[in-house]
Amino acid sequence: MNATIEELLNNQIKFEAQASIQYLAMASWADAEGYNGVAEFFYNQSEEERTHMTKLVKFVNERSGKVIVPALDAPKPAYNGLNELFEKFLESEEFVTQQINHIIFECLQHKDYNVHNFMQWYVSEQLEEEAVARTLLDKLNIIGGDKSGHYLFDRDILTIAASHEDE
Ligand code: FEO
Repeated sequence: MNATIEELLNNQIKFEAQASIQYLAMASWADAEGYNGVAEFFYNQSEEERTHMTKLVKFVNERSGKVIVPALDAPKPAYNGLNELFEKFLESEEFVTQQINHIIFECLQHKDYNVHNFMQWYVSEQLEEEAVARTLLDKLNIIGGDKSGHYLFDRDILTIAASHEDE
C-alpha cells in the first residue's frame, strides 16, 4: 500500500474513533440532562462510528498495511444546550467528510483504485449523516429556546432521523 494512503487511512481510523467517543460523551451529557431520545440517538451514532473505525482497521490489515490504533483526545464533556450539541455534531460530520474527500483525492493522485472503491461506502455514509445532522439542526433552529419544543424534539428525534434515512 502506498505510504501516503496508508497514513491517511490511519488518520481516518483516528477521526472515526474520535467521533465515536465524542458522540458517547454527547449521549452521556444528554442522558444526564434528561433528554432520553437525544441520548439514544447519540449512543447509536457512537456505535456507528465505531463500526466505521473497525471497517478501516480490517481493510488496512487485509491490504497488508500497518494499522496504528491511536490515542484519542478527551471529548468535550458538556454543552450549553441542544443547539450547541447539534452544531458540534454537524461540524464533526463536516470535518469527517472533508477528510474522506481528501483521501479520495489522494487515491486518484496515486492511482489506488482499490482504496478509492472502498472509500465510496464512506462517501455515501457521510452524505446521509450530514443530511440527518442538518435536518435536526434546522428543526432546533425553528424551535429556538422553547422548552416544550425541546421536549417534542427529544420525543421525536429517533423517528425524524429514521424517516430521513429511508428517503
Ligand atoms: Fe464515520 Fe460520521 O463519520
